[in-house]
Amino acid sequence: MATPANLDVIDRCSSDQIDSPFCRDVLAGLSQHQKAVPARWFYDFAGSELFEEITQVPEYYPTRTEVALLKAHSGDVAGMIGEGRAVVEFGSGSSLKTPLLLQAVKPSAYVPIDISGEFLRQANADLGDAMPDLSIFPVEADFTKPVALPADLEGEEMLGFFPGSTIGNLPPFAATDLLRSMRDTLGRGSWLLIGIDRVKPVDRLLAAYDDAQGVTARFNLNLLRRINRELGADVPVHRFKHCARWNASASRIEMHLEALKDISFHVADRLFFMREGETIHTENSHKYTEESARLLLNAGGWAPQCVWSDGRSDFFLILAEASDLPIAP
Ligand code: AVI
Repeated sequence: MATPANLDVIDRCSSDQIDSPFCRDVLAGLSQHQKAVPARWFYDFAGSELFEEITQVPEYYPTRTEVALLKAHSGDVAGMIGEGRAVVEFGSGSSLKTPLLLQAVKPSAYVPIDISGEFLRQANADLGDAMPDLSIFPVEADFTKPVALPADLEGEEMLGFFPGSTIGNLPPFAATDLLRSMRDTLGRGSWLLIGIDRVKPVDRLLAAYDDAQGVTARFNLNLLRRINRELGADVPVHRFKHCARWNASASRIEMHLEALKDISFHVADRLFFMREGETIHTENSHKYTEESARLLLNAGGWAPQCVWSDGRSDFFLILAEASDLPIAP
């Protein structure tokens, strides 16, 4: 395709089209040398449903392994930290995982924090039905920054809960910042129970992110459909394929959308070109060894006290205590 030199993008944007955070992220990401769209935009309604489907495909081990670890060790968590703390979940809660922990630690209150009020309402309605005596204080907020917890919880001891290995979707510097924010939110004397995915043979990792039924491929390609639907774009979705790659030096699985031919398309009235084989980078999923997981938590202000894993060494469930900020020697 004849691509004018130095002309990756022809600017024909109207100001209201570029006004949404989604549009801004997409336009900025597609204008980079390595095109990229942040993974958080996967989760529209269709994307959230496809993610649920991913958690059930045979190759995607993290969800079922973490559920098994919570079944096996929630009682140990209660034994370590005692019952009656307020449980603060970073995210709107999973109907599979959250009740396992709550039933074991008998919390004084449950505080799910999520940026989406819609997800919060739905998850809490389900949980309220299952545990009618539980006091629930949903907080609609961006938990990547310190969050002010409801005044009713003043003086309560806290247990943070961050399952799902979502921490792995952040590069280590941002993961460290997030852990520090969580520590600020929860305060001194708090604990954190976190799920972290382990380094393992590359063929198993690649299969988990490129399953035989093609659910992960549909999840990845749905991002392009969302861009077309919400941003008035004409991305030729059928001219892309999903690909999962192992980046050994960064210890992460990367998901990309690869152009099958030279193509051009518009997003919010801007024209983009892609060469055959060029990709849009859509997700990172970092994998940790026990050593690197401990290092990450320590850097984020948390001292691991218990590290549990499964028989296949697939996944970590780690209980960590807020470290007191050290005085420099
Ligand atoms: C949400 N997150 C932890 C998933 C992961 O494994 O990184 C997202 C995902 N992407 C493809 N499959 C699952």
